[in-house]
Amino acid sequence: MDRSHELTGRQRPTSGASADELGAQLREARHRTRCLTEDLSSAELMGAYREIVNPVLWELGHVAWFHEYWTLRHAAQQAPLIEHCDRLWDSSNVAHRTRWHLELPDRAGTYGYMAAVLDRQEDLLARGIDDATRYFYDLAIRHEDMHVEALAYMRQTSSNAPPVGLGQSTPPPAGALSGDVAVPGGTWRLGSTAAEGFVFDNEKWAHATVLAPFRIARAPVTNAEFAAFVENSGYRAREFWSAAGWAWRENRQAERPVYWQAKRDGVWTARHYRAVEELRPHAPVIFVNWFEAEAWCRWAGRRLPSETEWEAAAIGEPAAGGTRLRDTRRRWPWGEAAPTAAHANLGFAFDRLVEVAGLAGGDSAFGCRQMIGNVWEWTASDFLPFAGFSPDPYEDYSQPWFGTRKVLRGGCWATSARIARPAYRNFFTPDRSDVFAGFRTCAL
Ligand SMILES: [Fe+2]
Repeated sequence: MDRSHELTGRQRPTSGASADELGAQLREARHRTRCLTEDLSSAELMGAYREIVNPVLWELGHVAWFHEYWTLRHAAQQAPLIEHCDRLWDSSNVAHRTRWHLELPDRAGTYGYMAAVLDRQEDLLARGIDDATRYFYDLAIRHEDMHVEALAYMRQTSSNAPPVGLGQSTPPPAGALSGDVAVPGGTWRLGSTAAEGFVFDNEKWAHATVLAPFRIARAPVTNAEFAAFVENSGYRAREFWSAAGWAWRENRQAERPVYWQAKRDGVWTARHYRAVEELRPHAPVIFVNWFEAEAWCRWAGRRLPSETEWEAAAIGEPAAGGTRLRDTRRRWPWGEAAPTAAHANLGFAFDRLVEVAGLAGGDSAFGCRQMIGNVWEWTASDFLPFAGFSPDPYEDYSQPWFGTRKVLRGGCWATSARIARPAYRNFFTPDRSDVFAGFRTCAL
């Protein structure tokens, strides 16, 4: 019997990972953090002030500080390694603009602090771990995973070189995948259940919602499909844009997605890190913001899915006869098996985006492909708390951002499988085009 409705927001299940497994996860995340930062010059480590990025050097210290704050200081009552560390790296108290003007340790000092915290975390694990402490390891590892992804898109934002040592395998061409699938209506329990292990506060808890039948695309919108909108003067046609979207477009004088270059000799190109490459027509469009997704939909006679529709299409199943949704949730779109490179482009599985017909092994029960990995998918939904919300110990994770962000689902190529669970709710303001986001659409 599903008793998840009896859970209170304060209950905090964990991954159940053993001390050895947590140690391996810590080292895996740290390997990625180092691959994404070691080759940067000192100038690149600080970078120019921008509203949408942190100085990389600050971000590195902040990741280690977060580990130390929750696993060593909070859970194990240890004294801080650096006395004034909260004044440097506590993101809740160090204003964004200030992060360029702190007396930060240099590169060697910062990596040294990271290594010292990791050593202490491993020492603590070696003494065994209880559930209360495991929760904070789960949290801090996922926090580093999120910064790994941010470091990857910051390299694109800042025109750094492509990362070295991650995503070595090149996916074969796969082509286009058109058409919609039908998802029946019924009751959908939106959100996470305690059976999923560690979850963030904003996913608590699964609750019944009523869903009307809908049709959703088998694949995300591709570069070729988005280019048709650009070539149709979509960025100049006011009628395709909401008032807020048009204000954004006017302000930026946007004519095409942020990294695309003007079409020349019939070929679309885009900046990829510091090089300019031809756009692959059947790869999903990426680096488009919510306003651009919304405008494309209006032009195409489509709409974005709600997060409820997205989740039901990803992990729901049809009841016998197919006329309504079953009261079941798959762990992953393809079933129970942990993700591999046959299911999803996650965790730097490939060195580029997989074309939309690829990874058929990851199809959902309804035949939706690539719901997990490759690109995050904007949904129509505002980022709002579920009924009964109460913040978890890291209080600033969700609460400050409700009502001003849009929900994205599904993870991307740079997201860890720990984060990219189907019920995970990512959130960004609708003007952000620097994150690894695309979108999939529904029929009107
Ligand atoms: Fe953070």
